[in-house]
Amino acid sequence: MRRKFIVGNWKMHKGPADADTLAEALKRGLAGRDAAVDVGVAPPFLSLPAVVSRLKHTGIVVAGQNLHPEMQGAYTGEISGEMLRQAGVAYCLVGHSERRQLFGDTDALVEKRVHACFRAGLLPILCVGETLAEREAGKEVEVVTRQLASALGKLHADQIPSVTLAYEPVWAIGTGRTASPLQAQDMHATIRGWLESNFPAFVARSTRIQYGGSVKGSNAAELLRMPDIDGALVGGAALNAEEFLQIVAAAG
Ligand code: PGA
Repeated sequence: MRRKFIVGNWKMHKGPADADTLAEALKRGLAGRDAAVDVGVAPPFLSLPAVVSRLKHTGIVVAGQNLHPEMQGAYTGEISGEMLRQAGVAYCLVGHSERRQLFGDTDALVEKRVHACFRAGLLPILCVGETLAEREAGKEVEVVTRQLASALGKLHADQIPSVTLAYEPVWAIGTGRTASPLQAQDMHATIRGWLESNFPAFVARSTRIQYGGSVKGSNAAELLRMPDIDGALVGGAALNAEEFLQIVAAAG
């Protein structure tokens, strides 16, 4: 009952012209597919209009990479969920580990951003995951469940399945070091178990949990075969159309 969902996070790559070229390649590569897999891309803010326009009527959804908690106001340099929605964006990443590590996104701020998504009518892709030090200290479950409880705790059960969760162990992001399929499956099962114990049963059954961290064409199939891995959030490998299309194919 959970369709696989593959999202490319382009991070701070691809200005409007390059983004348009990549979007066009994805559009061509996915034309006429049987659409068994949901596909999305998260370009930088400035490239969103070009990508939204290029991907119109393709079924490929577009996501922001972040949003400010408020709808508007005196927040120089920020972008709101309302602006994303007006630009034709449907989803937004929240709490990516690079935001948490480099830009001071605390659990409290991540929670505000999740709520801002709902206020703006955007579907959040909530990223959680432990650092290497936290895993080595055996604290990965504690960290991930703390992040989940903080970000989702005040939502109504009916809202949770609209959230895509992305488990991204920080030590696997951009390092070429992927979690093994069993390591990833283990944490995904833990996350689903957490949903089961905190919400009515339909929530755990229907909420999608993506894996992220050095997913590539060559390792996607074994990860996506795991019963609790419902898709992937792809960074580096999403910048190359062919490789990203291989990952989408592995999900189908
Ligand atoms: P990566 O990034 O695929 O380059 O490891 C994943 C992510 O940060 O979402």
